[in-house]
Amino acid sequence: MKLTVVGTGYVGLVSGVCFSEIGNNVICIDRDADKIDRLKNGEVPIYEPGLQEYLVNNMNNGRLEFSTDIKYGVKESDLIIIAVGTPSLPNGEANLAFVEEVARNIAVEMNGYKVIMTKSTVPVGTNERIKEIICSITDHPFDVVSVPEFLREGSAVKDTFSPDRVVIGVENKRAEEIVSELHKPLTDKVVVTDIRSAEMIKYASNAFLATKISFINEIANICDKVGADVSNVAKGMGYDKRIGPHFLNAGIGYGGSCFPKDTDALIQIAGNADYDFKLLKAVVDVNKHQRYNILDKLQQVLGNLNGKKIAIWGLAFKPNTDDVRDAPANEVITELLKLGADVSAYDPIAMDNFKKSLDQDGVSWSETAFEAVQNADAVCLLTEWDEFKEADLNQLEAAMRFPVLIDGRNVFTQEQLSESNLIYHSVGRPRLQ
Ligand code: UGA
Repeated sequence: MKLTVVGTGYVGLVSGVCFSEIGNNVICIDRDADKIDRLKNGEVPIYEPGLQEYLVNNMNNGRLEFSTDIKYGVKESDLIIIAVGTPSLPNGEANLAFVEEVARNIAVEMNGYKVIMTKSTVPVGTNERIKEIICSITDHPFDVVSVPEFLREGSAVKDTFSPDRVVIGVENKRAEEIVSELHKPLTDKVVVTDIRSAEMIKYASNAFLATKISFINEIANICDKVGADVSNVAKGMGYDKRIGPHFLNAGIGYGGSCFPKDTDALIQIAGNADYDFKLLKAVVDVNKHQRYNILDKLQQVLGNLNGKKIAIWGLAFKPNTDDVRDAPANEVITELLKLGADVSAYDPIAMDNFKKSLDQDGVSWSETAFEAVQNADAVCLLTEWDEFKEADLNQLEAAMRFPVLIDGRNVFTQEQLSESNLIYHSVGRPRLQ
């Protein structure tokens, strides 16, 4: 199949590369000329395991190309994928300006029947709006289809090649057959539905996952008070097939470019329909507070943090990505600086992005994990990178002035800690020495 993907962000780039890998001819379009130049040179602007190899292979075999020219993409393709951003407006609503602009640009260049497939996360009714826009500009026949994306950063390639399901929101058989054909090599778990339900499935899925995280974090906070261990609680709950074992890792809460944005947007979607989504508002509120949990623990051990050297291990919102959007590290570091702490920080991949995102001076950036903890009064683990999980705890203890480890992601086991004299606190697990 010949297809064009408009937008080379996370979703667009990964989809374009993976669709070319399964045998399609793909043109990826972006209006950012610098980015397109870099991509043409085989440079991937994000850190995503496996992506670069597939990108280079498919460029070399002629199935994948990059361009800034949307006219070329539309004319050459039967199927056009919209994968541009829908960032939050100040009130939490999704900003649809980019999606609408792309719809207009596609309409102007149409030269025959096209399937316009939206992968961007968009509020219910947006695909109908896209249809209206295109109809107002051209008489060429077309269908709109909603195929929400469920890939996770850090495992985006793997998720695209073996998705749990593909959701196809569609209005007629002609478009359904084309889009089903495209996804056939990926999975047979396909949910075909109406367009509005497909749009809702994406928000409902992310909101439900965020709810699981805030739920287990509240259970963890209660475990801290009553002396239970949230890891065992989650394990015991997870064997129940109706609950499931995933997304029950307690910690300092969720971040990233998706859950915070999509939960806010769904609250707005509900509000616009005159419905107060109380449960989801509580989920968001719990998540905001959970980031500060680690600071409370730090103050319990060290008292006043003024002048204390606090090391931060991990700046990305989760491991295996250089994405720092809405990363808990941002609030934690900002608050530590406010309290007068002397902060040294390290992340294996996300340092550069984090430096750009933090509008504060005063952090000392370390080249290695152990440089950051040298003579520190405490180290806070905020992202569960393997490098930290595998750290030698005796070496850690020896490097620090005061051996306090606050583990915001519950990565260390009792067994690992039994050999060291670290003063260890985690989230919702009894204090271990
Ligand atoms: C999330 C969804 O998992 C994807 O299905 C969806 O496609 C994507 O959003 C999106 O809408 O584009 P992502 O944000 O890449 O993917 O990352 P996740 O692995 O879901 O993690 C999100 C956050 O939740 C991270 O901060 C992570 O640390 C946190 N988390 C996750 C927990 O605190 N506990 C858990 O048990 C699981």
